Amino acid sequence: MTTTNAMNAPLSSLTWGDDRLILLDQRLLPESIIMLDLYTPEEVWDAIHTMKVRGAPAIGIAAAYGVVLGARRISQDHNDNQIWLDQVLEVCKYLATSRPTAVNLFWALDRMKNKATTLIQEGHDILELNQALLTEAQAIQSEDEEVCRMIGEHALPLFHDGMGVLTHCNAGGLATAKYGTALAPMYLAHEQGIKLKVFADETRPVLQGARLTAFELQQAGIDVTLICDNMAGMVMSKGWIQAVIVGTDRVAANGDVCNKIGTYSVAVLAKAHGIPFYVACPLSTIDLNTATGNEIPIEERPAEEITEGFGKRTAPQDIKVFNPAFDVTPNEYVTAIITEKGIIQAPYNENLAAIFSK
Ligand code: MRU
Repeated sequence: MTTTNAMNAPLSSLTWGDDRLILLDQRLLPESIIMLDLYTPEEVWDAIHTMKVRGAPAIGIAAAYGVVLGARRISQDHNDNQIWLDQVLEVCKYLATSRPTAVNLFWALDRMKNKATTLIQEGHDILELNQALLTEAQAIQSEDEEVCRMIGEHALPLFHDGMGVLTHCNAGGLATAKYGTALAPMYLAHEQGIKLKVFADETRPVLQGARLTAFELQQAGIDVTLICDNMAGMVMSKGWIQAVIVGTDRVAANGDVCNKIGTYSVAVLAKAHGIPFYVACPLSTIDLNTATGNEIPIEERPAEEITEGFGKRTAPQDIKVFNPAFDVTPNEYVTAIITEKGIIQAPYNENLAAIFSK
């Protein structure tokens, strides 16, 4: 792995460069803009696991490129299609262990597995196989950009000039190929001269709201105010928020929404204040195979994120810590789910299933 300081380069969370995945190290934002060159699936696994790349769609895209890197390495040692396929499937299995919650990771890896299997059935040579896998990974990335823009277009009519909008965590350009999900309508509003007052809450313990959302919206010239997670209720009670919009890592078939820890509290507060609570996501985040939010695996992360997260010890030694990275917001708190195919409302079981055949 090599690193490049790219302070003046335009910001994109990941790009493909001839023989490597070029990744923005999101752990170092906003202080440093460092690009990492990743050459192996192991480096991609580590980047996802340690959250150098994070956000549901972005980790799916990174994993797809991880498969490309794995396939290229295999073909240096073997020129046998069956060995190539077996090992590509192994690489997919391995990358699927990098993080458990965001279903986009598994969705993208399934897509790569299906592509590899179909290509083998069609009988291509190894060079063609590798090229076709790269084309598939690039398609996942470019489709995500298009899908995010469409989510923004569907969401935009819900927002009007002068409105206060709260968002939790980072569901922006950094978490996706471009635009983001929850932040897509904010970028489109900005393009059209509609002025929203965005409140970004910081999302302890790793501060995606402060380090990432506040950073990317400020860079884009959008009016953004940073608050701590525990200030959302106060800000709502002052009448400053007319809508909440968040992204998600997985939506269950019944419309329960899994997202960054603290989202559930924000949803309850929104309901208590009569504020609509919107969730923005691509169809690749909707998991009809998971019946309810109770079945979604919730990642628990190291205690040090809480006890030493600010570069110094902020809790007693040996303290017991519970550090879930996500929570589930029950469907009754969700006003609507905004996708690239339009806006979905309750009853979610019926309407989420129907959107896939639209
Ligand atoms: O732990 P993270 O930073 O990967 O969690 C990200 C979130 O929870 C985002 O809100 C979600 O992935 C939506 S991304 C468009």
